[in-house]
Amino acid sequence: MDKERPHIPVLLDEVLHCFEKMPEDGVFIDCTLGYAGHTEAVLEKFPHIKAIGIDRDMEAIEYSTKLLERFKDRFEAVHGRFSDVLPKLLQSCKVCGVLADFGVSSLQFDKKERGFSFLSENLDMRMDQSAELSAYHIVNRYPQSELERIFREYAEERAFKRAARAIVEARSKKPIESGKELADILAKVLQKRGKTHPATAIFQAIRIEVNDELGEINRVLDALQKSPPKGAVVGMITFHSLEDRVVKRRFKEWSRSCICPPGVFRCECGNDHALGEMTGRKPLVASVGEIERNPRSRSAKLRCFRFF
Ligand SMILES: C[S@@+](CC[C@H](N)C(=O)[O-])C[C@H]1O[C@@H](n2cnc3c(N)ncnc32)[C@H](O)[C@@H]1O
Repeated sequence: MDKERPHIPVLLDEVLHCFEKMPEDGVFIDCTLGYAGHTEAVLEKFPHIKAIGIDRDMEAIEYSTKLLERFKDRFEAVHGRFSDVLPKLLQSCKVCGVLADFGVSSLQFDKKERGFSFLSENLDMRMDQSAELSAYHIVNRYPQSELERIFREYAEERAFKRAARAIVEARSKKPIESGKELADILAKVLQKRGKTHPATAIFQAIRIEVNDELGEINRVLDALQKSPPKGAVVGMITFHSLEDRVVKRRFKEWSRSCICPPGVFRCECGNDHALGEMTGRKPLVASVGEIERNPRSRSAKLRCFRFF
């Protein structure tokens, strides 16, 4: 793997293993193309498939289109939200695999001007730079009750009220302009847990709100449920317990053959409702070696599902 690549793909061997079970030809959709680490490896390993990579970040699309130039007969990049693009592809192509590696790329996170980190000189956090809602708007304009809601729901932060109050007090004196300022305000009122910055969960919650990340995951799962691609394998990598819960629940629901209400004496539904099967009950996680090489893989969980 190229050392200059701005993002190291997580769980790469596990992802390739998961897609070994997909049909030999068809279209593989990478919903979160990013810097094409996963897609490039999939194109190399499975010579008969075509791949379409979706990303809402134009920087990622441009980088990956160049990187995958040598696969131009088998690869296409599409700029947009996967919740918009995937439903159309499910209608128009024979889809053999769907991968989603949710969350932000290292490049988005590390580039200070993208406004995702504690060191940023602005407050932005938009994955799609043409989108309207930014972190600046949320931090400086959302009512206190809305800030409390996102901190409670997405950060699962016990001190959600204290964090929201600190922001509202600070912005009553002057607008909060940067990730640095926001991190300082929050560090004064939140407790440090281990080595992580005390504001980590709150920053993540703001990012989830800016990009409607849970809504996007739910919509992509709805699209797959509505038009299940026959025989296709789906692999989803999450970095947050809320995301993992959504994926796990849905894969379980899709695997259920009997949908009779609990407590019925004998099955009356026909016991043939499963859309497919989960491969493995437990999610795959990074090895110690991978975590050492790429600490970002620490919280990654991969779940796989195969449609009948
Ligand atoms: C973790 S990175 C993916 C990295 C990629 N697997 C690789 O190997 O380089 C996630 C990417 O998904 C994109 N993304 C996140 N949510 C999206 C959505 N709803 N629609 C389209 N792209 C999205 C982000 O812009 C980011 O580039």
